[in-house]
Amino acid sequence: MHNTIMHNTTMHNAIMHNTTMHNAIMHNLFMHKAVIQILMFINRTRELAILNRHSQSIKSGARINIALFGLRRIGKTELLLQFRNTVVDENLLVSYINLQKIIPDTEGFVKAYSKELIYDIARQNTDEYVDYPYEMEDLLILASKLGDMEIRHVRKLMSTLKQQEFAEDELLGLTFDFAQKLAEKHEKKIIFILDEFQELLQVHSRFLQIMRSITEKQKDVNYWISGSVFSVFDEMLNHKNPFFGQFIRITLENFNRESTHELIDSTLGFKLTENHKDKIYKFTNGQPHYTVVVCRKISEQYAL
Ligand SMILES: Nc1ncnc2c1ncn2[C@@H]1O[C@H](COP(=O)(O)OP(=O)(O)OP(=O)(O)O)[C@@H](O)[C@H]1O
Ligand SMILES: [Mg+2]
Repeated sequence: MHNTIMHNTTMHNAIMHNTTMHNAIMHNLFMHKAVIQILMFINRTRELAILNRHSQSIKSGARINIALFGLRRIGKTELLLQFRNTVVDENLLVSYINLQKIIPDTEGFVKAYSKELIYDIARQNTDEYVDYPYEMEDLLILASKLGDMEIRHVRKLMSTLKQQEFAEDELLGLTFDFAQKLAEKHEKKIIFILDEFQELLQVHSRFLQIMRSITEKQKDVNYWISGSVFSVFDEMLNHKNPFFGQFIRITLENFNRESTHELIDSTLGFKLTENHKDKIYKFTNGQPHYTVVVCRKISEQYAL
């Protein structure tokens, strides 16, 4: 009887653990794509070197905002995640939000922003496994492991969000301020990656002004943004716009022949002739996403 209870408890724990693990893997797959990405990341050595150089300058006290521009499916997300996954530095916190994957309003943004920061810092501060805080209640529990400042922030966020008509400006202010407070308290520099930044323009009509007025004074928080809608991005990064005029621009291009061949080899898992690989390169013009799509089609045919 005792054994059975023990066994059931163990089973229960195992199932709970598996569920937690499953959630974590799903989170990685859908929010960060980290699992897939490590296996087959190709090229972008020049861009990675640039990002690494800038992150080193940030560590030495510089403040560097970056705007990564590239057409759809060119590899912006892959590059940003690859950079993030390769940073192993206790003094640097690299947080990431894909803005296409959150609810595009102020509530969705402020929740995602605080969740990522708290989750990332909690993971960096411990060797233990940390559950992702999907619910605000989970976030409060996680914040309580970090300290009073973090608890106060999450409580304030929760209470403000519960009000029928909350002041969105105040909520955004509270949110951006939190990053700087967190950086100071934990003595870290923060790089906050906001992937598909143009989505934020839907969040709040004055989003950019609010972000600018608060974040330009923050010495430890750096924003690395990416976008694919050139017209929006160009307007935002116009030199007449004093805040965004300071962003360093990086533009992603298609792969060259050599990298396209490498991507073909890694995607197919079997060797094609150079001639066939050149044909694919000519067809896709080195666009990584299309190259992968073509290779998958070839794999399907080959399997039949
Ligand atoms: N460096 C890379 N190594 C391997 N595959 C890549 C790389 N870059 C891009 N790809 C392939 O191209 C696809 C699209 O890349 P990604 O999602 O990063 O593009 P994106 O520019 O972020 O697109 P979107 O504008 O839709 O957000 C990836 O799913 C992957 O298959
Ligand atoms: Mg993307």
